Amino acid sequence: MRPAGRGAPAALRLPGRLAPPLLLLLRVLWCPHAARGDCGLPPAVPNATADLEGRTAFPVGFAVGYYCDVGFAKISGKVNAAHCLQNGEWTQPPVFCQRSCGSTPRLRYGHKQDIYIPVSYHPAGFTVEYECNLGFARNHSVSANITCLQNYTWSKPEVFCYKRSCPDPGQIENGHISIPTDILFASYIYFSCNPGYKLVGTNSTYCYYEGNDMIWNDPFPECQGNQKSEYRRHDQQLNFKK
Ligand SMILES: *[C@@H]1O[C@H](CO)[C@@H](O)[C@H](O)[C@H]1NC(C)=O
Ligand SMILES: *[C@@H]1O[C@H](CO)[C@@H](O)[C@H](O)[C@H]1NC(C)=O
Ligand SMILES: *[C@@H]1O[C@H](CO)[C@@H](O)[C@H](O)[C@H]1NC(C)=O
Ligand SMILES: *[C@@H]1O[C@H](CO)[C@@H](O)[C@H](O)[C@H]1NC(C)=O
Ligand SMILES: *[C@@H]1O[C@H](CO)[C@@H](O)[C@H](O)[C@H]1NC(C)=O
Repeated sequence: MRPAGRGAPAALRLPGRLAPPLLLLLRVLWCPHAARGDCGLPPAVPNATADLEGRTAFPVGFAVGYYCDVGFAKISGKVNAAHCLQNGEWTQPPVFCQRSCGSTPRLRYGHKQDIYIPVSYHPAGFTVEYECNLGFARNHSVSANITCLQNYTWSKPEVFCYKRSCPDPGQIENGHISIPTDILFASYIYFSCNPGYKLVGTNSTYCYYEGNDMIWNDPFPECQGNQKSEYRRHDQQLNFKK
């Protein structure tokens, strides 16, 4: 048996893996003295398009891959390729594309569970289970499932997560914390000092998560009296002179 011939590299670039029986078939087809019976254009497959890679000639042993059209998805386990046989005819791939809902909706508050990540075939009735993003908690009174409907659109997801809350920030000494919206995930709060006091530290922070906890992302500032800040300035000048 000769090493892979002219058509082989393209054949090896086939999307997906070739099933062992097909590999065997390809080996048989690449035998040394195969008659040159090139194939014409590959056969039509319902709701799929052959990836010709710009080729117009298809030698014996050549394999062409197919992709499902938009709105269709590959049924896993089915072969999406045709092979040019010695007699100049193509093998006929099975029907491997089925109507399917498209990719699952992206949500601000949740994502599909990991087991659904490799799944692209979503027939009508297929359910995908979601979970909450970090910073959110599950509202168990509503479903976190979405379903591919009869018309191959996804059911409208419910708001199955709510924003988690940070601890009550309280107040800062000689100053004020303002809460423009709320103290929920990703919300900002602002710090200011009473007249005569100087803000040392950040003037804002936001609610975020750290592991399983909800935290204010920055240490709260201090409001320092004039005297104190004079000393500070003095200290800094001394440091500078050193
Ligand atoms: C899917 O394939 C069938 C059979 O070839 C065809 O009748 C139908 O129009 C195709 N559907 C779409 C949406 O292209
Ligand atoms: C949970 O969902 C129900 C129904 O939509 C809603 O009334 C309730 O306010 C939600 N709970 C939270 C904590 O968001
Ligand atoms: C969500 O889908 C899973 C898997 O199909 C199912 O076990 C569960 O009961 C569904 N939950 C709801 C609320 O529909
Ligand atoms: C699909 O069906 C659902 C439920 O019957 C409906 O609400 C939705 O508008 C339909 N979408 C399209 C694009 O027809
Ligand atoms: C907060 O501090 C930044 C610089 O650190 C400044 O640009 C901004 O105007 C300050 N905001 C308020 C409300 O004081």
